[in-house]
Amino acid sequence: MCGIVGYVGEANAKDIIIDGLKKLEYRGYDSSGIALNVGGRLVVRKCKGRIANLENMIAEEELSATVGIGHTRWATHGAPSDVNAHPHTNGDGSIAVIHNGIIENFVELKEWLARDYGVQFRSETDTEVIAHLIGIYYNGDLLDAVYKAIDKMRGAYALGVICAQEPDKIVAVRKESPLVVGLGNNCNFIASDIPALLKHVRSLYLIENNEVVLLTKDQVKLFDANRKEIHRDVFHVTWDADAAEKEGYDHFMIKEIHEQPKGLYETLHRRIDEDGSVRLDGINMSKDEIEKFSKVYIVACGTAYHAGLVGKYIIEKLAKIPVEVDVASEFRYRDPFVDDKTLFIAISQSGETLDTLAALREAKRKGARVLSVVNVVGSSVARESDDVFYTWAGPEIAVASTKAYTTQLMCMYLIALYMGKERGTLGSDAYNQYLNDLKEIPDLIQKILDQEEAIYEIAKKLYKSQQVFFIGRGLDSSVAYEGSLKLKEISYTNSFAIAAGELKHGTIALIEQDTLVIALATQDFLFEKMLSNIQEVKARGAYVLGLAKENNTTIERQSDRVIYIPECRDELTPMLSVVPLQILAYYIAKLRGCDIDKPKNLAKSVTVE
Ligand code: AGP
Repeated sequence: MCGIVGYVGEANAKDIIIDGLKKLEYRGYDSSGIALNVGGRLVVRKCKGRIANLENMIAEEELSATVGIGHTRWATHGAPSDVNAHPHTNGDGSIAVIHNGIIENFVELKEWLARDYGVQFRSETDTEVIAHLIGIYYNGDLLDAVYKAIDKMRGAYALGVICAQEPDKIVAVRKESPLVVGLGNNCNFIASDIPALLKHVRSLYLIENNEVVLLTKDQVKLFDANRKEIHRDVFHVTWDADAAEKEGYDHFMIKEIHEQPKGLYETLHRRIDEDGSVRLDGINMSKDEIEKFSKVYIVACGTAYHAGLVGKYIIEKLAKIPVEVDVASEFRYRDPFVDDKTLFIAISQSGETLDTLAALREAKRKGARVLSVVNVVGSSVARESDDVFYTWAGPEIAVASTKAYTTQLMCMYLIALYMGKERGTLGSDAYNQYLNDLKEIPDLIQKILDQEEAIYEIAKKLYKSQQVFFIGRGLDSSVAYEGSLKLKEISYTNSFAIAAGELKHGTIALIEQDTLVIALATQDFLFEKMLSNIQEVKARGAYVLGLAKENNTTIERQSDRVIYIPECRDELTPMLSVVPLQILAYYIAKLRGCDIDKPKNLAKSVTVE
């Protein structure tokens, strides 16, 4: 997500805004910028890279202003660059805009502005469209022009807007993306979240969806979608700066676990056109090219590799093409069979994992078509791929990957649907049914998140376990690996995942009295088999925590405790069944007093061999 800061008052806007942007650096960004009203003229300075680059750029300039807006960009449309950085302005530079979110219909708006108004665009971003829209509607009333512009827009946005002709005002808008207003003495602020303002104010308005705000230095007015002025109680912040960065959560990990419904919504819904078809932006393979593939490789590391295991299952099922999944550190050294009929899919949250990047280069050298599923726009893996399909999870700060994993899964399903449709192996009825079922996933995950307290209670019983086994069959075994990694990497518990059918081939020798076994049994067609595996470990004294769909209560007869997930089709359960395991790992680590966001020996991005 991007960071937004705005100031109108009597002090030096430049310093206040830059300082506010620095408080948002933790969110992750790739460029930054500032717009100031200097004597009735808008001055815009922006550049790629760290905020320090921006500071160096403006260090020698006076830029005396009492109104301004600033932005840290987390790229979604258009790679990180000086020209794509915000703020963006209209043609004559009299309107400047900063934006957090995604404008879904920016392509049609861009075409309309170019055709009917002769607008010439400088950047690749959706945001620049907003500045031009406000510019064509501006007729001496900035608030009116903003209303007219947002009436044309579809998508998610938190906006900050300033205008050369109205040097004492900021107009801000919220639709989906977060926005807060800080209330000061002879000064007022806007921000995308609270940390940017805490140094100056603790009295805020929390802006709600479809609200528009008009700020001057001594007045803040809120309006609804119909321009009717509304009242809002003042919210008083008691958090310190560190807590504010986590928006009140104790750790980034639990915050990001709770961000999964939004990340999945962004990753899916922003790609569904009005006619219901899925637009896989960034994938430019033709039908002929897709039909030419004889094999798919999915290569990644860690959690991303576990997402690939699910990808194998669903791509083979829907696109009827053989899929091989490998960890990148193995793939790159085993002289794999890859040729120009191979589709190589790299999955990486950071897009900088050296093993994955090296494997990608090896596949390209051998002639494969490379498609990457990446969360960081413009990262090395993204830049070196033929096609890029972005997860829109937003910045993932915690070392333990959660929302990146579930959005990677969403991308696997969308790629499988796309390939199945193009290869003619998936009928339109089945395609539409899958799409409808995928749309339900964010709400179903929210239902699991609402069980957080109950899962915490279970963690209290289990957090002293010295050894834990995760077992499952089919897709459940793929999720078992991810659940085991979560527990391992943040609570330092000896945790193992194994296909349940494999237990009898040796591992069951380790099951003793009170050994904790977490048994995933969400696949209807394998449910009876899983009950047998649970009985096997129970017979040897195991303590079994079952995980099943809410209607399969017979599992309770064989288990000591059960966590239920909402009913959904077997193929989509991984996006649901992983969530209780993420929450369980989080609370076990918390109860064990571990450093959850920065586990020992681990890095967020492993850029070494
Ligand atoms: C997952 O929780 C870990 N942080 C780690 O396994 C991670 O998934 C792996 O290093 C791959 O990182 P990437 O997705 O950025 O390539």
